[in-house]
Amino acid sequence: MENFTFYSPTFFVFGKDTETQAGEYVKQFGGTKVLIHYGGQSAKKSGLLDRVEDSLKKEGIEYVTLGGVKPNPRSGLVYEGIELCRKEGVDFILAVGGGSVIDSSKAIAAGTIYDGDFWDFYSGKPIEKALPVGTVLTIAAAGSEGSPDSVITKEEGMFKRGASGNAIRPRFSILNPALTETLPPHQTAAGITDIMAHLYERYLTNTKEVEVTDRLIEALLLTMKHEGPRVIADPHNYEARANIMWAGMVAHNNTCGVGRSQDWNSHNIEHELSALYDCAHGAGLAVTMPAVFKYVMNHDVMRFAKVAVRVWGCQMDFDHPEVTALEGIEAFRSFLISLGMPKNFEELGAKEEDIPKLVEVLCRGDGRDGTISGFVTLNEEDCTKIYQMMV
Ligand code: NZQ
Ligand code: ZN
Repeated sequence: MENFTFYSPTFFVFGKDTETQAGEYVKQFGGTKVLIHYGGQSAKKSGLLDRVEDSLKKEGIEYVTLGGVKPNPRSGLVYEGIELCRKEGVDFILAVGGGSVIDSSKAIAAGTIYDGDFWDFYSGKPIEKALPVGTVLTIAAAGSEGSPDSVITKEEGMFKRGASGNAIRPRFSILNPALTETLPPHQTAAGITDIMAHLYERYLTNTKEVEVTDRLIEALLLTMKHEGPRVIADPHNYEARANIMWAGMVAHNNTCGVGRSQDWNSHNIEHELSALYDCAHGAGLAVTMPAVFKYVMNHDVMRFAKVAVRVWGCQMDFDHPEVTALEGIEAFRSFLISLGMPKNFEELGAKEEDIPKLVEVLCRGDGRDGTISGFVTLNEEDCTKIYQMMV
């Protein structure tokens, strides 16, 4: 195991009706003038936004609102949010929504108290200071409710980049699984896929003997394998939604990633797809992961065979571990398809002729040196072949 530090100070409030406590927690964490940031229509339509606003009013906390965050959140609204926060003297950002709303909130939180362009943070500058952020989560997926990360799409060029820093870890996150019952099935399935991707990206490690985190990841993958089909069959299964929601947090606050190298090549390859085609991030991952895994599996075939046996119930073929490894990848792919996820470029809405452009932005965009690194370092030729495998 490698040396590590782990700091995860978010205060979690989990369960039914907990969104009505938002005001109390904003107060507890020092907010006096709040920006409530939200997405398109869902939080308004369900009455969630009203409940959150009422809880702030009850505590006598002033607020302004800014809606309109789109999935794969855009830089334009972040600039607007920063301006609004400065003008209104906002000292706390409350995100009401999914990963996109939370990530946009984190970008505004960092940008409001920074002299330069907030995009500097998405070009590699670590985030050391930000306004405090709280969240009311409405979809189990990105794990942004417990992560130090934010992913934004730059509108000039339509590419996606991430920024990181403990300063943007939410101070509190309110997780009411019942709020996710209104999700369209496609978004529920995309969220499940993203959670499983966060687990796989950590499982694919070059660090030896990391049994605790290996086993935690396997347990969470098994949970998703069990709960995924149950929630697709019955969207109002609260217990299944609750397990998925907490798994989504644990999968990405790095409990399962400490002390080991991680991959993240599938995420990097996918981010270009959701930036260009505006597909759900999880749907993009469903098409990306099997291709990446098949391409890199011989780098450590026993690792792929291990997850195949322990999670997907495959029989170990000791003479031909690559057969077991491949069976596990196929089982994972079939599972995602059974949830309703796309299986190729066409179903995702991606175009083969765009591959050179995708590879160029992926490997060269924003100062990259022609490669992306993780479990295996991939160059432009590798990435081209991987995108072609998805066609
Ligand atoms: O905008 P509204 O109307 O709210 O609709 C949203 C949106 O269309 C809808 N939705 C959310 N909660 C709902 C609901 N509809 C009905 N009922 C509800 N309760 O779902 C759609 C997707 O929402 P979004 O926030 O985009 O989903 P998700 O949480 O999957 O976030 C995806 C974004 O997170 C980034 C992705 O790249 C993507 O941009 N990621 C962020 C990470 C992080 N910060 O740590 C890590 C991830 O790997 C990921 O890259
Ligand atoms: Zn993800």
